[in-house]
Amino acid sequence: MKILVTGGAGYVGSFAARHLMQRGHQVTVIDNLCQGHRGTLPSETLVVGDIADRELIGRLLDEQEVEAVMHFAAATNVEESVRDPAYHYRNNTLNTLGLLETMLEHDVRKIVFSSTAATYGETDEMPLREDAPKNPVCPYGYSKLAIEWMIQDFSEAYGLSYSILRYFNASGAAPDGEHGEDHSPETHLIPLIIQAMKGKRDEVQIFGSDYETRDGTALRDYVHVDDLALAHELAVEWCPEPGSGSGCADRGGIFNIGTGGGNTVLEVVQALERVTGEKVPYRMAGRRAGDPARLIASNDRLRDVLGWRPTHNEIDSVVETAWKWHTSHPDGYEN
Ligand code: UFG
Repeated sequence: MKILVTGGAGYVGSFAARHLMQRGHQVTVIDNLCQGHRGTLPSETLVVGDIADRELIGRLLDEQEVEAVMHFAAATNVEESVRDPAYHYRNNTLNTLGLLETMLEHDVRKIVFSSTAATYGETDEMPLREDAPKNPVCPYGYSKLAIEWMIQDFSEAYGLSYSILRYFNASGAAPDGEHGEDHSPETHLIPLIIQAMKGKRDEVQIFGSDYETRDGTALRDYVHVDDLALAHELAVEWCPEPGSGSGCADRGGIFNIGTGGGNTVLEVVQALERVTGEKVPYRMAGRRAGDPARLIASNDRLRDVLGWRPTHNEIDSVVETAWKWHTSHPDGYEN
């Protein structure tokens, strides 16, 4: 297929874009390089631009004869969304509205959308099925949930076909150490632990030790980024044929992407110590704003409907790839 990938120079987007290319799809990436990196992709694939530039998006859709859009571009920092919700609603929700309208103007009616486990927030149901109650505890979660509603409404009204993918914690790196996670500033647990182990920071703080979990630290479902990339290929190929005109039946599906298992923050620390034989300098700290206690996916739909099977089922295998990337690329994509 001919696919436009927004935000495809970022962490998850670039793993998906490279995977799609390896599988024979024709990929064009648009990325403003606000968080993305040139080194993630072959240069001829990348158009540097912003999804708010509707004229540019429209031109790419026409020139590349795009059949489907994979939409990653977004602000994703949970804590920042609490401090600056306007940025998240504008960058995520408003810009996606513009993207959807531009797609319809150019008769592109298939989308795979990067949503998030943050749409669930605090809930007692665990593991989380896709129809679990939605109680986001941060503006980031609301900004993505609003997009999910828009996409479903656009599907019914205009025949848009969609797969909405709710990521749990994207983690790890390419097993050959050539590609990985590089955020600036870094806020994610696994890279921060590794930075502390490598002396790039004094220590890693563990945010919250009084959660109702097996050791008091927060529980997350760490899914390897290669397994996430595979889910995107399956999801775009699964998307139903779009309809046209108003009053169409809903044409799409929502899928969690997670392993179905979980690890606490302390267990991730221990996994890195086990895999490397080195100690993690850490300190207990207070809870971080916007963090739910537990987020574990039910991945039954992903397995049953899309036939997804993860290749990295254990946290040790996830952190091992991350360690390899950070060891071979101490300055990320800057080397
Ligand atoms: N954590 C620490 N210390 C740190 C950083 C993180 O203890 O220095 C903890 C967090 O409090 C959380 C866990 O480690 O409990 C994972 O935190 P991350 O920042 O790595 O990931 P999040 O769970 O906050 O967020 C990620 C994505 C979001 C997405 C969310 C869905 O970054 O975009 O998963 O679960 F919404």
